[in-house]
Amino acid sequence: MSRDTTPPRAGTGTPAIEVRGLTKRYVQRGGVVKQAVDGLDLTVERGEIFAVLGPNGAGKTTTVEILEGFRKRDGGEIQVLGEDPALAGRAWRSRIGVVLQDSRDQAELTVRELVHHFATFYPAPRDPEEVIAAVGLLEKASTRARQLSGGQRRRLDVALGIMGDPELLFLDEPTTGFDPQARRSFWDLVLALREGGTTILLTTHYLDEAAHLADRAAVVRDGKVVALGAPADLGGPGALRPVVRWVSDGVARAERTDHPTALVTSLAATLAGPDGEVPGLRVLQPSLEDVYLELIGAAPVAPSGSPSGSAPSAAAPPGAPHDAPTSAVLSAPVAEEASR
Ligand SMILES: Nc1ncnc2c1ncn2[C@@H]1O[C@H](COP(=O)(O)OP(=O)(O)O)[C@@H](O)[C@H]1O
Ligand SMILES: [Mg+2]
Repeated sequence: MSRDTTPPRAGTGTPAIEVRGLTKRYVQRGGVVKQAVDGLDLTVERGEIFAVLGPNGAGKTTTVEILEGFRKRDGGEIQVLGEDPALAGRAWRSRIGVVLQDSRDQAELTVRELVHHFATFYPAPRDPEEVIAAVGLLEKASTRARQLSGGQRRRLDVALGIMGDPELLFLDEPTTGFDPQARRSFWDLVLALREGGTTILLTTHYLDEAAHLADRAAVVRDGKVVALGAPADLGGPGALRPVVRWVSDGVARAERTDHPTALVTSLAATLAGPDGEVPGLRVLQPSLEDVYLELIGAAPVAPSGSPSGSAPSAAAPPGAPHDAPTSAVLSAPVAEEASR
């Protein structure tokens, strides 16, 4: 799973995208004000795939549409390829490629007609037939857009987005609704574009997509970045620490710890029953998915401190044995991503 490739292509010095303190609010029906983007900061380096990861409603599309110059912001500083998208003109626009979250236009035209048509929009377009081949649609070149499957339609969207040979490509939820096989081949296409030197900002609500594609990812929640880093490092260094769970006085307890053996030893000394078992004892390795769900506020993995009550502390007796002195199973379903 790890991206074992050379570092992102050296750029011209300035980042592809720089966002500081971006804000955007909508006045919704009934006069309700929705703060869709709430002081968001981002830097996307040239040559990287950067994922904006977050649940529905987090503010991803609003942010991307502002960066694309399609939507006005309320506040904040933005540079995209060295220009402010709100002020940039045609020359700038020809350097970016856009794949919107939803595109169902021109459904009566064939793949070939659409791609050739889009080529006329750009000063230095790519070869349309090469682009059709690059996105894997040669066999569908004579098919009307409306007759394509979801995955094929998305490939067509990408073909149209890259016709101008963009330096920077925006992909807004490119694989939502795909079957697993279509996602895989779409991912290969995105990686091939990156290898060709295109900087890519993609939004997704799938952690595995970010983990597979992105050099770096920002987790966005309520219009703010709540975590930033390589996908495997999201949540910070302590996020994948094991969680020890047990039951004491009929109450389920959980503690996140760097020293699970010591904690288990201490639990065994105080809580083991006549059969030598600590009730409900489990040691769990949070998966990257767990960390992500916690970051977006969907599911707490475990309290980060000891729960209140009479639970023993994690302090280990000196010379504690390496193996827990109980026969408790250390159930540790380590996620694939966690071992990247
Ligand atoms: N045109 C709009 N008018 C009013 N509210 C909007 C509009 N677009 C988005 N929103 C609201 O702003 C928030 C962020 O939406 P969006 O940027 O589409 O998030 P995401 O792409 O992460 O799902 C949501 O609460 C959404 O309902
Ligand atoms: Mg969206």
